[in-house]
Amino acid sequence: MEKDIFLVGQGLTRFGEHWDRSLLNLMDEATEAALKNSGLNALDVDLVIVANMLGERTNNQAHLGALASALLPHHPPALRIESACGSGAMALHTAAAYLESKRAETVLVIGVEKMTDVSVDEVSAALMGAADSELDAPSGLTFPGIFGLITQRYMHEYGLTREQLSLVSAVHHRQGKENPFAQFRFDVSPEKVTASPMVADPLRLLDCSPVSDGAAVCILSTTHRSELRLAASQIASDSVSITERASITSFSATRDAMQRALKEAEIDREEIRALETHDCFSMAAIINMEDLGFAEPGEGISVYERIHAGDYPTFVNKSGGLKSCGHPVAATGIKQMIDIAKQLGASKEQYGLAHNFGGACASCGIHILENLDASS
Ligand code: COA
Repeated sequence: MEKDIFLVGQGLTRFGEHWDRSLLNLMDEATEAALKNSGLNALDVDLVIVANMLGERTNNQAHLGALASALLPHHPPALRIESACGSGAMALHTAAAYLESKRAETVLVIGVEKMTDVSVDEVSAALMGAADSELDAPSGLTFPGIFGLITQRYMHEYGLTREQLSLVSAVHHRQGKENPFAQFRFDVSPEKVTASPMVADPLRLLDCSPVSDGAAVCILSTTHRSELRLAASQIASDSVSITERASITSFSATRDAMQRALKEAEIDREEIRALETHDCFSMAAIINMEDLGFAEPGEGISVYERIHAGDYPTFVNKSGGLKSCGHPVAATGIKQMIDIAKQLGASKEQYGLAHNFGGACASCGIHILENLDASS
């Protein structure tokens, strides 16, 4: 990084169904929590960046930058970022660019989404805005459908079984049970995942991240310091339509962003001791393990098999991931950073990584946090 950027404040609403709350209300709660947590004065914020994907479709609300700016007494400059489910990471990356270029000194980065005010059919159609409207949508695909195709192909190439796939959500639910901000805080057995209703063959209800409301806020600063320094902020892209890819069982945007992030942080992969990865569907979690380099191609499930058996350090999606925490799409990337910060604080480990993507990983953002108080 060109400059030292510190994570100085964090705030979160519980993810779930907030039928009685507005987008502004959710942003307000998370902002207030982050300012309180940072100990800063609201007037210290000189830029607000809001990540949001679906405001126009699910809440009839655009112009979220200006809307959020009014939460602060001095109405600082504000803008909105959209990159589908990867909007949160893109907003953090934009904040880092502002800070590195000295155009801002303290940036309030908000991720917010409110998806449950409309029917699941409407939200599924809105989410398809993250796919290609000419190549993907006309066939009637939804995102569970796209990841269903990816899963079928992966099972064909590598022989992954339905029973193995079910371990992923079982692990995420077990870990999310301990997280007070998670939408679903209960155990599900692998057998229950396998028996849950079919959504998009072979994906079942309990393979899918849910539809959620929520907001998350990180405050990044170059003038105020904390023990958490941003060691890398990298983004990468791929074709929006899966029909234009050479392979759909590996996501090149993850591989590219990971390679550059490790280089920027000047660390080896093995030094990452807290990892939040984008498990929008259980299949994605397995592919991510491979693309992030924690398993060989075709062997991503081995990480989950080992966690399930209690034989792997549980630093993967300790929060419960998108499956258990919920996935208010643009809030997820910011929430992952908060989870990493909490885990590094609790474990005193040095490095943690947040991996967030949009669509079928057509856009990807990776952030690495360094805990300067690490015991090592
Ligand atoms: N995991 C666990 N439980 C879930 C769930 C999920 N993903 N989705 C819904 N439920 C629960 C609900 O809480 C409800 O429980 P209750 O009966 O005890 O209240 C029950 O299952 C039925 O919920 P319902 O809202 O009727 O489900 P649905 O069939 O309308 O929606 C999905 C289920 C999987 C279709 C929906 O969650 C979905 O589309 N998920 C994917 C979202 C997505 O594509 N995100 C972008 C990723 S790229």
